[in-house]
Amino acid sequence: MNMDQLKRQAAARALDEVRDGMQLGLGTGSTAKHFIELLGERVAAGLNVIGVPTSEATRADAERCGVPLTTLDEIDHLDLTVDGADEIDPQLNLIKGGGGALLREKIVAAASDRMIVIADDTKWVPTLGRFPLPVEVIPFGLGATRRAIEKAFAQCGVSGQMAVRKAKDGHVFVTDGGHWIVDAQLGRIADPASLAKALSAIPGVVEHGLFIGLASSAVLAGGDGIRVIER
Ligand code: A5P
Repeated sequence: MNMDQLKRQAAARALDEVRDGMQLGLGTGSTAKHFIELLGERVAAGLNVIGVPTSEATRADAERCGVPLTTLDEIDHLDLTVDGADEIDPQLNLIKGGGGALLREKIVAAASDRMIVIADDTKWVPTLGRFPLPVEVIPFGLGATRRAIEKAFAQCGVSGQMAVRKAKDGHVFVTDGGHWIVDAQLGRIADPASLAKALSAIPGVVEHGLFIGLASSAVLAGGDGIRVIER
């Protein structure tokens, strides 16, 4: 089975948790896209749900698949968010933001009663950090923000190269919120909760890709089948 089939399997398993009438957070990325496609099939067959997309790309996918959409201004909570991740550790802490949607993803996950992370099992790691940590920043004063980020890294016992993310066309990647992303190659993040706190305290940092205590379960699809890990 190839990677794409594994992602679809994980998405299909998460769909089992969806009930009629639910208000759903819709994640971003290739795995979440499978979930939206499968959800669209169920909606076409009569399932009544409404979704909040975590990116403009996901909004377009959901519209294409016929999934009705709303916003967090129109509803007061979400029952369930289903989203992918770049790394998942045994405490279900995550690195997210490889697709650049971390800010809306975190707002949506935090507004949700439950978050299910769907992934192929290559995303499962003993310790976060092999995947570069995305940090969403305000372009103004970036030099000062970078120095503050380096200081936060040092305080938390990590270090590594940082680079402003570029889009495929070579220009700076701009998020849906109009911000930039700095990707930090940290290798191993021994204490992700402390690092998350330190990064959140920096004025020029809008958000970071460490999702601590937000995921309630993970569905991992691998060659041996599906594994569901609950927190
Ligand atoms: C989007 O910003 C990310 O957080 C994605 O959820 C993450 O990169 C996983 O994407 P894939 O499902 O494409 O691997």
